[in-house]
Amino acid sequence: MAAVSVPTGAVAPWDDSTTQPTILILDQMDVNRRLLRGMLKSEPFRILEARRAHEAMSLVAREKVDLIILDLMMPGMSGPEFCRTLKADRKTQLIPILMLTSVQGVENEVAGIASGADEFLIKPLHPTVVRTRVRAMLRNKAAIDSLEEAESILFALAQAVEHRDKYTAGHCQRLAWYGVSLGMKLGLPRQQLLALHRGGFLHDIGKIAVPDAILHKKGCLTEEEWVVMRSHPIKGEEICRPMKSLAGVLPLIRSHHERWDGGGYPDGLRAREIPLSARVLQIADIYDALTTVRPYKDAFTPESAFGVLEEEVSRGWRDPELVAAFKQLRSKDGGGSQDPMFLDWQQLTVMGQSIASTQPFARS
Ligand SMILES: [Fe+2]
Repeated sequence: MAAVSVPTGAVAPWDDSTTQPTILILDQMDVNRRLLRGMLKSEPFRILEARRAHEAMSLVAREKVDLIILDLMMPGMSGPEFCRTLKADRKTQLIPILMLTSVQGVENEVAGIASGADEFLIKPLHPTVVRTRVRAMLRNKAAIDSLEEAESILFALAQAVEHRDKYTAGHCQRLAWYGVSLGMKLGLPRQQLLALHRGGFLHDIGKIAVPDAILHKKGCLTEEEWVVMRSHPIKGEEICRPMKSLAGVLPLIRSHHERWDGGGYPDGLRAREIPLSARVLQIADIYDALTTVRPYKDAFTPESAFGVLEEEVSRGWRDPELVAAFKQLRSKDGGGSQDPMFLDWQQLTVMGQSIASTQPFARS
C-alpha cells in the first residue's frame, strides 16, 4: 500500500485505519516534505505534514502519531525546543522523534539527542537509510504500545479484584497514595516510590485465583481454605513476573503479608528481611482497612486506627519505626516544618500526580 499524503495541518476524513503507522513530517520547506514523502511512499504509512511547530502540536494533540520526522532548524520553535516540549508531556513523551539536519557537527547531534530526539540523520538523505531507520523506530514504538497495553490490562484486572473483594471504592488509589507518601517521608528513591504506587494497585492481584466461596465466606475459613487464601501473594507474583517493567513491584506483592515477628506468609520472613516496600504497603493497607467502612464494620477514627497499629507493634507484628513515621505523617502537625523529611500534603499531591502520570491506567 502506498503512503497516504494528507495536506498540511489536515486529517484525512476518509481514513479509517488504526493499524497503519502514522508519521508526521514537520518541515517548513515544501520540497523537503515532498522529498521525504517520496522516500516513504513504498511503505504502508499514513503521512501527516506540518510546516510549523504549532501545527505539529495541534496534529499530535488530536491524532495518534507513531513517529515524528523533523528538521533541526525551524523558524520559531527550534527542533530541539520542539523535542523538549513533546518529551515533557506525558501524553506525547513516548512518540519517537527522528531529527534531520544539513549541518554537520557533533554539537548539533548532541543537542538534538539531549533534547529528546531518538535518532539523528544528516543530509543528504539516502532513501534506503531513511526507510530502514523509520521501520526500526516504528518497531520499537509498536513494542512499547503493546507493553503499555499489557500493563493497562493488568491494572484493570487489579481494580476488578478490588471490587470483587468488596473493598470500599478507591482502596487501591488510597493505598498507592499512602505508600508513596510514607516512602517520600522515608526519603526513598523515585524507583521505589513508583513500585509503591504500582504495588498499591497490584498487591492483591493474586486474589483472582481465590474462589468467591472462600473470598466472601462468612465465618471462619477451614485450614484448606486458608491455604488457598494464603497463596494469593505467590499467585500475584506469578501473574506480574513476565512483565519486566513490574520487576520492582514483585517483592512487595510477594511479601505484603509477612509479619515483623516472622509469623506471616508466604515465606515467614522477619523484621528487615521483609522488603521495605512490603512493610510500607502493609501499614498503609491496615490503616485504610481500619479507617474505611467495610461490610462487617464501621470506619475507625485515625486515632483509633493508630491505637490498633500500635497495639500490633507491641505484639511484635509491625515495624515500629514505620508505624511511628506514618502516624507522624498523618497527624496534622506531626513533624511539621521542623522535620527536614516532612513534605506537606500539597507537595505530596504534586509528587503523586507526577508519579501517577507514568502509569498506563492514569492516562487519559
Ligand atoms: Fe493481600
